[in-house]
Amino acid sequence: MSIHADIDHVILTEDVIAGRVRELGAQIVRDYASSSKPVLLVAVLRGAALFVADLARAIEDKVEIDFMAVSSYGSSTKSSGVVRILKDLDEDIEGRHVLVVEDILDTGLTLKYLLRNLASRKPASLEVVTLLAKEGKQQVPIECKYVGFSVPDEFVVGYGLDYGERYRNLPYIGVLKPEIYAD
Ligand code: PRP
Repeated sequence: MSIHADIDHVILTEDVIAGRVRELGAQIVRDYASSSKPVLLVAVLRGAALFVADLARAIEDKVEIDFMAVSSYGSSTKSSGVVRILKDLDEDIEGRHVLVVEDILDTGLTLKYLLRNLASRKPASLEVVTLLAKEGKQQVPIECKYVGFSVPDEFVVGYGLDYGERYRNLPYIGVLKPEIYAD
């Protein structure tokens, strides 16, 4: 049962993603070179799990990793913007340089909530790295210091992004065939 057969077309190949992740890693090393403590990567489950695994290995410096899991209250994060923390950080982030790692910035509602929540814990700095940002979809302004790629508003899956919890394991990012999500 090949998952590749459900993909209409690839928009970011494995090589292109790997190249950009290496660039982001190098840029993060440069930007945090003067920090006294290692940067703390805060990955937002589940989509960012694959990205953070590669990004952390592209940061050739001391780095720490923690995870958060969030879910929307009621119907949809997309419409309500109300987010519930399912798994909080294990680390105390006061005085830490925190870099939130997301797979995709869509409406921005998830990050708006997360950034406000994390800022209240008094980190030394708080920035965002997102692999993808959907063009023209942000409902709230989000300052992302690092953006891997801008992507059109299409149904993208792979490299952590799912449809019905599937396709996260694709090594590339592609657009799903319309008949798959029409089912
Ligand atoms: C995705 C993504 C972001 C959020 C972005 O998560 O990982 O957290 O949506 O959307 P927004 O900008 O419109 O708030 P999703 O809820 O699909 O969960 P997942 O990471 O477990 O797939």
